[in-house]
Amino acid sequence: MSQTLKITVLPGDGIGPEVMEQAVRVLRVIEELEDVSFSLEYGRIGGTAIDEDGTPLPEDTLEKARRSDAVLLGSVGGPKWDTNPAHLRPETGLLGIRKELGLYANLRPAFMLDCMVPVSALKEEIVKGVDLMVIRELTGGLYFGEKKRYEDENGEVASDEMIYHEYEIERIVRRAFEVARLRSKKLTSVDKANVLESSRLWRKVVERIAPEYPDVELRHQLVDSCAMELIRWPKQFDTVVTENMFGDILSDEASMLTGSIGMLPSASLADGNFGLYEPVHGSAPDIAGMGVANPTATILSVGMMLKYSFGLERASEAIEKAVHEVLNSGVRTRDIAENKEEAVGTQEMADRIIEATRRAYVNA
Ligand code: IPM
Ligand code: MN
Repeated sequence: MSQTLKITVLPGDGIGPEVMEQAVRVLRVIEELEDVSFSLEYGRIGGTAIDEDGTPLPEDTLEKARRSDAVLLGSVGGPKWDTNPAHLRPETGLLGIRKELGLYANLRPAFMLDCMVPVSALKEEIVKGVDLMVIRELTGGLYFGEKKRYEDENGEVASDEMIYHEYEIERIVRRAFEVARLRSKKLTSVDKANVLESSRLWRKVVERIAPEYPDVELRHQLVDSCAMELIRWPKQFDTVVTENMFGDILSDEASMLTGSIGMLPSASLADGNFGLYEPVHGSAPDIAGMGVANPTATILSVGMMLKYSFGLERASEAIEKAVHEVLNSGVRTRDIAENKEEAVGTQEMADRIIEATRRAYVNA
């Protein structure tokens, strides 16, 4: 009997709904290829939830997510809500769902396809062959520490606490070693241990766990030096693990090595197989509804979901292969096209990837 997997689909704001529509078509194709069926439940998050439900993360959305096997998310945010107070901002919905669902391990791959090298802002010799994975701690640190706002005799004061418990560091570091093991067994742990107490604890925990993974080569690096080295010689990196705020910044930096944030997927994993999958790019309100958005990142996020939550390796690899093939054949959406006149729209890009996925699956 075929297995039914429950997915909560949260299209979100801006281009989210249109790229999600294409990602769902890919899921339907996987149903034809694998002995599996997906039951989809839609929910609201972000700006659209603020407008409809008065909160960026409705309880109904959390309930749906909790009873599902995985969550697929489009993107949240837009100028319409930018001046709202914190509890009515779309980003608060995203932070809330990460915390509520215990999604502490954020995997952000950044890979360079040969055919994309000309799109990168950096020289060919530097970016050709880049393939790295930033693992960002996602539910602790500066983002979730205590925030304060008060006045003293000198005027207004604001503070954000950077706090880590040992167990929070331990679980992300273990995840990182496991991931590094399946890649090229090189792990860089990034911190600011020359200044921050939370980083000193981070480093101590990494040191304690490292002997359990003798096959993985470990290096510690300070975050400022890492930021510099990522641009100078990115190929020295394979798997990088770091705390929330550093990971936010370094993963954006790493994404630009590939010249195409429109292509990068991400996974946010809890203990076990549960995860939330979303493109790294934002809601791109300037092109929302125009049918020109690049659906690749969301489709690759489906690929990550098949792999990390459902163990459907073959289907996941078929999607990855398909994306490479389509891009190598020169098909481009506007964001990555050198000649904008020849760019294809959202739907056609997905059509091509879908065709190629079928082929790649059958030939695997
Ligand atoms: C990201 C985003 C979010 C973050 C924002 C939108 C809250 O930048 O997913 O990287 O800072 O985590
Ligand atoms: Mn970010």
